[in-house]
Formats: sequence, structure tokens, C-alpha cells
Amino acid sequence: MARVLVVGGTGLAGRAVTNEAVGRGHDVIVASRRVPDDDSEQYVLGAVYETADVVSGDGLEAVLEGVDVLVDTTNGSGRTAAHVFAHGSQNLLHTAARFGVHQAVLLSIVNVDQSGYSYYRAKAAQERVYRESPLSTRILRTTQFHDFVSSIFARGKAGVIPAPSKTSFQPIAVSDVARLLVDAVDGQGEEDSTLTVGGPKVETTRELAEQWKAATGARGAIVPVRLGGQLGTFLRAGSNLVPDAALPGIDYATWLSSNAA
Ligand SMILES: NC(=O)c1ccc[n+]([C@@H]2O[C@H](COP(=O)([O-])OP(=O)(O)OC[C@H]3O[C@@H](n4cnc5c(N)ncnc54)[C@H](OP(=O)(O)O)[C@@H]3O)[C@@H](O)[C@H]2O)c1
Repeated sequence: MARVLVVGGTGLAGRAVTNEAVGRGHDVIVASRRVPDDDSEQYVLGAVYETADVVSGDGLEAVLEGVDVLVDTTNGSGRTAAHVFAHGSQNLLHTAARFGVHQAVLLSIVNVDQSGYSYYRAKAAQERVYRESPLSTRILRTTQFHDFVSSIFARGKAGVIPAPSKTSFQPIAVSDVARLLVDAVDGQGEEDSTLTVGGPKVETTRELAEQWKAATGARGAIVPVRLGGQLGTFLRAGSNLVPDAALPGIDYATWLSSNAA
């Protein structure tokens, strides 16, 4: 069994990875800027929690000591995305190399290098940091999570459920993503490779909104909205979809049946 460091392991994807890795018997350390209370939903029994900040570098040396494999599920928004993804990854991987860590696994997004959307540019820069690092790296690119799609609909106000027009999604369950990430920890797949996977089904955003509305009992009309900017262009081009790389996992309707609340 390996000593596995999950950086960003208190987040949505990181928690699922931590659960999966603990379940497979790995010795798991979770690093993030804040340590969760042991009665919070972020806390996974069996993992060890430590504070570390990839941007400032605080705490990195201590958490990397003796680690065999690191998994990066950090995130940032707005301007912090660039700090976390590019600068933070550089700090993390340089320190990891100094401490003799041999393997790294990164969670990324399908076709992230094909958009000028600032968040995606930062993620693409993060992928480059991993590819150029001396560690053996495995990058997993996935489509959007079921949770992400739901958050679009839940963001609506005043009786409106926004559904970006002329777009589709191929959402994937975070638990399916976590399984693949821990497969990579366990050495599956080529070293220094990128694996691309999508959820089991491509559905229009309208179809997904209808399922979300029925499952949550939300009131309001599903209203098509034109998403502006580079993200809108990316989505309308269908660049977020990888139908040839569909994973036979949990589809949106099944996921909603236990997560709609
Ligand atoms: N959402 C999607 O549909 C989707 C699809 C494919 C790939 N992804 C990728 O999946 C990754 C994880 O996304 P998520 O939604 O699970 O993220 P999340 O829930 O926002 O969690 C982010 C994690 O990163 C930690 N973190 C943030 N800044 C940090 C720093 N400076 N140093 C150390 N830890 C830091 C956070 O903890 P603290 O704040 O306590 O530090 C938290 O543990 C992202 O890189 C995203 O691009 C997302």
C-alpha cells in the first residue's frame, strides 16, 4: 500500500478521492489550507489531515515527507485560479521532487487547452507544469461533474431556472472520477500520459434542467440563456463533450435520485 497525499482533499473531488484511497487501504494524508472538524462532512475517517498552502508553500515540506504518490485536486476561482493552478503546482511539484516523491496524478478538464476562458487557461498552464515536471505524472481529464451541472440550475433567481442555450453536457459522477484517479495512484495507465473520460450520456442542457427540476421539485420556468464569453463559445462548440470516451458510470438521472436534496 502507498503513502498518498491528496492535495485539496477537503474539496468535492478530493473528498471522493480520499474515501476511495482509504477504502483501498492506502495510507492517506489530506492537505489543504484548512483542516476540517472531525464531525464535518469533509472529514473522512482513516485519513490524516494537515494544513498546507500550495501558493505560499507553507506546510508543503512537512506533508510531502515520505509520500509515494500525490494527487492534486486543488481548485481556485477568479484570480486565485492562476495562482493555485500555475504557481501553486510549481511549488508543489518542485518540493515533491526535492523530497523524492516519484508519482503525481492531476485532475483536469477535457479540452481545457482549447479555450481562452481564463480559468481554462490557468488549468492548461497547470497541466504543462505537470508534464514538464521530473515526476512520473498521470493526468485525468474529465467532463463536468453532475454537481457542476446542478449548480447552474440552482443559481437561478426569481422563479427562473437558467439553461444555457445550444449547449449539452456529458456529466460524470465524482465517485467515478475518484475511482479512476486512485487507479492511476495504483499505477494503472501509462506513465506520463493523459487519460480523457466523459460521463455515460450526452444530454442537452434543457433535458438536464428538466430532470433537475423534477428531482428537486424546484418551482420556476426553465429559461434558455445565452452564455457569453469564451466559456459560452467553448460550450456551444461542444468542446466539453467526448462521446467517444464515455464511461459506463452513474448518469445524471441516477445521481439525482440520491443527490437531489
Ligand atoms: N467541477 C467540475 O465539473 C470539474 C470537472 C473536471 C475537473 N475539475 C477539476 O477538479 C478539481 C477539483 O475541483 P473541486 O470542485 O473538487 O474543487 P473544490 O471543491 O473547490 O475544492 C478545492 C480544494 O482545494 C483546496 N485548496 C484551494 N486553494 C488551496 C491552496 N492554496 N493550497 C492548498 N489547497 C488549496 C481547498 O481547500 P482550502 O480552501 O481549505 O485550501 C479544497 O480542498 C479542479 O482543479 C477542477 O478544475 C472540475
